[in-house]
Amino acid sequence: MESLSFLSKPFSSSSAAPFPRPTPLLPRRALSSVSALHMSSSKEAKLWGGRFEDSVTDAVEKFTESISFDKALYSHDIIGSRAHASMLARQGLITDDDRDRILDGLDVIRGQIERGEFVWRTDREDVHMNIEAALTDLVGEPAKKLHTARSRNDQVCTDFRLWCRDAIDAIVSRIRKLQAALVKLAVKNENLIVPGYTHMQRAQPVLLPHLLLAYVEPLERDAQRLLDCRARLNFCPLGACALAGTGLPIDRFMTSEALGFTGPMRNSIDAVSDRDFVLEFLSANSITAVHLSRLGEEWVLWASEEFGFIIPSDSVSTGSSIMPQKKNPDPMELVRGKSARVIGDLVSLLVLCKGLPHAYNRDLQEDKEPVFDSVKTIMGMLEVSAEFAENITYNQERIKAALPAGHLDATTLADYLVKKGIPFRTSHDIVGRSVAFCVSRNCRLEDLSLDELRSISPTFDKDVYEYLGVEKAIKNFSSYGSTGSECVSGQLDYWIAKLELSR
Ligand code: ARG
Repeated sequence: MESLSFLSKPFSSSSAAPFPRPTPLLPRRALSSVSALHMSSSKEAKLWGGRFEDSVTDAVEKFTESISFDKALYSHDIIGSRAHASMLARQGLITDDDRDRILDGLDVIRGQIERGEFVWRTDREDVHMNIEAALTDLVGEPAKKLHTARSRNDQVCTDFRLWCRDAIDAIVSRIRKLQAALVKLAVKNENLIVPGYTHMQRAQPVLLPHLLLAYVEPLERDAQRLLDCRARLNFCPLGACALAGTGLPIDRFMTSEALGFTGPMRNSIDAVSDRDFVLEFLSANSITAVHLSRLGEEWVLWASEEFGFIIPSDSVSTGSSIMPQKKNPDPMELVRGKSARVIGDLVSLLVLCKGLPHAYNRDLQEDKEPVFDSVKTIMGMLEVSAEFAENITYNQERIKAALPAGHLDATTLADYLVKKGIPFRTSHDIVGRSVAFCVSRNCRLEDLSLDELRSISPTFDKDVYEYLGVEKAIKNFSSYGSTGSECVSGQLDYWIAKLELSR
């Protein structure tokens, strides 16, 4: 099971003011005396409150907070702070004792958060200041040194890159599960021939596994796109500080390595400015969502009375509150529907970023919710699509009965004439006339006698019947990547090995 702990639960209503102060485990140290003197109300001084004489209004506080959603970053914020504190100690910027008290305090805070005991405070604005202020409550002076050579600007995008990295791993693992479900469905129906469509009109016969693998392939590209994005975003902004870096002797390579990044970002302004990593991530999610939406559309169609090609089990169907007979494929309709949100999340982010001048702007706080929503939505879409795949039965009789209609073997017949030396355009015309003949007789191509066929073209010979009918048509496909049995069986073997499944 992949860990989904980074997708934190919705913010509880207990977050609303008034805020009970958490019981400090260690005596709370005095706030900076300057800030405390300046505060005209009973509100706690902001961590940034030194130059302010008045506290912000309640409306501004509520409007500007991000704790209600960015607390989802708590684990990555703690990991980042641990790496930063260790680096500060090694560089002699804080003592080893300071570091140890910070690390112990962060462990306590992690425990409180994970047990649901931590009180998230809107007046402490965001996850970074909630944790830092709580750490100060807990361990006093050493905590005040943690923000040395760090700004929330580099902190937030470090946290966010770490979060996205985990999210990508979780999504890729769900993609693999859906691929596996589709491959298993293909193995279960290995020889089933279904009509293939273009323009939603009967086109050529295809093997069902071939069609199912046509969804597995794009999912592989989706996974690869996410992994490419992961490699590109895996660079560390920490130490870029507000935008310009610092004159303090920090070691950015050390924090980068401790956090599993490939290296520190080269340019401190770029490090805090750009959100291309989430734009790329949500683009990849949007493409995946479009793939899933198309799969959803197909299954909804195939489950209809008109097609009747698939029978979803009751466990993945829902009913109607008025029509007692109804059994609806709602999960796949919602997969189709929710793709809209994933695309919308990307568009929100693109519009958010497009007008921003360089470095950090507060607008960027709005980058979290679209990303959280996109990830939560795509995870659900992938999970439900896999469950649907595991609960589909193909209605073989219905499919078999449907195959004779539509002259699915016509193109194979044209290829037969090409093999006899007829130019393709001519053979297309001959087969077209043969189909018209069938339409007038209301029969199939394979029902025509040799004489009837010869009356259309003398090139037809008795071996023509090796090409007619959907089974024979399938056998005649032999090009690489085609729907021929051998080719499809080879493709299935490839996916079974790649996904470590068995036949
Ligand atoms: N909550 C902010 C965000 O998510 C953190 C960074 C704030 N930086 C600042 N200078 N106000 O973007």
